Amino acid sequence: MQQRRDMTTPVHFLTLADLSPDQLRSLLKRATELKAMQRKGERYEPLRGKVLGMVFEKSSTRTRVSFETGMAQFGGHAIFLSPRDTQLGRGEPVEDSARVLSRMVDAIMIRTFEHEKIERFAACSRVPVINALTDRYHPCQLLADMQTYLEHRGDIQGRTVTWVGDGNNMCHSYINAARLLDFQLRIACPDGYEPESMVVESDAKAHVSIIRNPLEAAADSDLVVTDVWASMGQEEEQAGRVKAFADYQVTEAVMAAAKPDALFMHCLPAHRDEEVAATVIDGPQSVVWDEAENRLHSQKALLELLLVHAGRP
Ligand code: CP
Ligand code: NVA
Repeated sequence: MQQRRDMTTPVHFLTLADLSPDQLRSLLKRATELKAMQRKGERYEPLRGKVLGMVFEKSSTRTRVSFETGMAQFGGHAIFLSPRDTQLGRGEPVEDSARVLSRMVDAIMIRTFEHEKIERFAACSRVPVINALTDRYHPCQLLADMQTYLEHRGDIQGRTVTWVGDGNNMCHSYINAARLLDFQLRIACPDGYEPESMVVESDAKAHVSIIRNPLEAAADSDLVVTDVWASMGQEEEQAGRVKAFADYQVTEAVMAAAKPDALFMHCLPAHRDEEVAATVIDGPQSVVWDEAENRLHSQKALLELLLVHAGRP
């Protein structure tokens, strides 16, 4: 993976691990500053004349709108590209698409299936490539989640986070966050739905434990997080997954096992009374709307890091 770790800004943002712990912490702080500036109506247009290409091979509401709005607020422009109307969808190799697009735009954001695809794209791109979700990772969502925790409860270092549900792309990005920000991540997932061992068996290992029982896993946690049982691309597994995950709903009992001031997060879209009880997601411990809004502010901080501070120590 192309990156200049620690000393300078990363070239691409394919996983959270492309940032050093210090870079991640300053990005989160900056996201909150950018949020305050936006709220005050302060004009800040560091990306005037810059263009972000946005390749979406899967659906999106939050990611598309937050990147497009962020570019507009920064004085730049975003182009939405779907495989239905581009040659990517007709089989043009990703490498060729990367070579062409990156000669025209200043950064490219991609939401796709196989993580390897975004790595191949990035290897041929002249401009920063941002992972807007792959089957393995969803790092942009973690920027928003970690900003939200920081704003509500302060530093997450030393805290306990419980992930309830599938060992999916979001769970993998939580594993990366646990190492970078130094918190403990407990994963409550059914047998057969664990996170990939290559993600767990890494330098994050000491930060991760699998505890099958959600009530046990949530005990004294500071944050409880979940996600859909069937991710995009797994629609045909929905019925089987509903059975497999029946005991893995974030219920009021799960929240009651956590600390009294524990927060609840969900990247959204959510299925009420499937992975989360309606009373939890719509309840007082839920910060899902702040979390969704922070996609905008944290991605603006990311764009600033990759495009404005690029190459600077
Ligand atoms: N959480 C998230 O990435 O939402 P979208 O699929 O709507 O972009
Ligand atoms: N795990 C979900 C996240 C959606 C934002 C998916 O990949 O569909």
